[in-house]
Amino acid sequence: MVFDTDPMAAFSEEQAAAIPIQPVAVDTLEAALSALPEAQRNWAKALGFEAKGGSTALLAGENGTLVRVLAGTGKEVGIDACWSLAGLARSLPPQVYRLDDDTIDADAFALAWGLGGYSFQRYRTQDRKPVPTLVHALGDDTVAMLEAVTVTRDLINTPASDLGPTALEAACRKLAEHHGAHITSVTGDDLLAQNYPMVHAVGRASRDAPRVIDMVWGKEDAPKITLVGKGVTFDTGGLNIKPGAAMGLMKKDMGGAANVLGLAHMIMARQLPVRLRVIIGAVENAISGNAFRPGDVLQTRNGMTVEIGNTDAEGRLVLGDCLTLADEEAPDVLVDMATLTGAARVALGPELAPLFTDDNAFADALSLAGNAVHDPLWRMPLWAPYQKMLASKVADVNHISTGPFGGSITAALFLSRFVKNAKTWAHFDIFGWVPSDRPWAKTGGEAFAIRALFTVLKDRYPPVT
Ligand code: BES
Ligand code: MN
Ligand code: ZN
Repeated sequence: MVFDTDPMAAFSEEQAAAIPIQPVAVDTLEAALSALPEAQRNWAKALGFEAKGGSTALLAGENGTLVRVLAGTGKEVGIDACWSLAGLARSLPPQVYRLDDDTIDADAFALAWGLGGYSFQRYRTQDRKPVPTLVHALGDDTVAMLEAVTVTRDLINTPASDLGPTALEAACRKLAEHHGAHITSVTGDDLLAQNYPMVHAVGRASRDAPRVIDMVWGKEDAPKITLVGKGVTFDTGGLNIKPGAAMGLMKKDMGGAANVLGLAHMIMARQLPVRLRVIIGAVENAISGNAFRPGDVLQTRNGMTVEIGNTDAEGRLVLGDCLTLADEEAPDVLVDMATLTGAARVALGPELAPLFTDDNAFADALSLAGNAVHDPLWRMPLWAPYQKMLASKVADVNHISTGPFGGSITAALFLSRFVKNAKTWAHFDIFGWVPSDRPWAKTGGEAFAIRALFTVLKDRYPPVT
């Protein structure tokens, strides 16, 4: 398969002995308790089970075996309850379970269970824990979503020592092969010959050569959907080196690439009738004698010149050339994803995916879908008057603002200079990381907004059945 982790390991098919998981909300606690055999009711009360969100009561049968799980959902019922229950996939004893409830959508529960059960085991040689499994036949979209999020998480979680530009390209090739997509790449000094000057400048100081990866899938005459991802496999900051604390997590700086690959997987697995293209700028922002410098002026693929204000604002440079390439064929939808600025995190915190677009209908559809599939995003402004903050005294533009304000907006505005022809353009400045455990995601690499994006794209371009 295309990932290290098998998302299906959290599921099983043996219906027979599956232990029922019974969601219990505060309002249904009385009824649930009174329907139990006396011994179990007394035990649940003795445990102090009050149906608080995330709480459980493991109930034993007469011979002492586990026969039922009461799972508290607090005030939540229906689909919302699924998400508070997702942590059960990590916390329950390693047995086989089934959902015992008619009010909760079984597929939504399975998705939450699958996401919550993920754990990155690649480097664990000892103490691998057996996992609980859920009996459920998953819907096709749910399988595709689980696989996609797994691909994304695995890629982000893999340290830079095992995921440099070469390995990121290999991962793209594996995905392309799995789906029969066509893939090419331009590497090292060929980037100069083929006019990707900014990708080359950012990546040339690494021993692992920079590259532009270009994957194409689907019918040539179908609507063109193009995804662009920031694939900075490690971000030292360059000569404007990051302090230690800020560098610690920078293996995740290819989170944009990991996310667009996850989205691409869903589109291809569910066979949306589109011509999909995925472009990834894969580079390591390293430090060496040939590193690019503050004050340098870079050429760009679209002819503009760019003054380098800070080598740590490397993502927007890599994306600039990739967006120019994407924009050359005027795609119907152009989406880029990048762990682009710390400022986006200051604005929205770690849970919401910041979205920039001028397409109001697309933004509204994405917001609705994000809420529906529990993959939230929030719209940010492409506030054109702030373009003046990018003025340069020596080149056409500076890639950063000299001031402290609106850092994720000015980064998005810099990108906007490379998009002229795409009918719809949307930019996501994502975090790519969960900083502390949530029921549906352990601390680590995370997918942002791709299930929402898939939902909207599938709605616009429904698979032909
Ligand atoms: N990869 C970082 C942005 C980042 C940092 C995302 C932490 C998520 C968490 C990016 O390349 C960067 O370093 N941006 C700088 C830009 C600044 C120099 C204008 C930033 O945000 O500090
Ligand atoms: Mn940086
Ligand atoms: Zn970066």
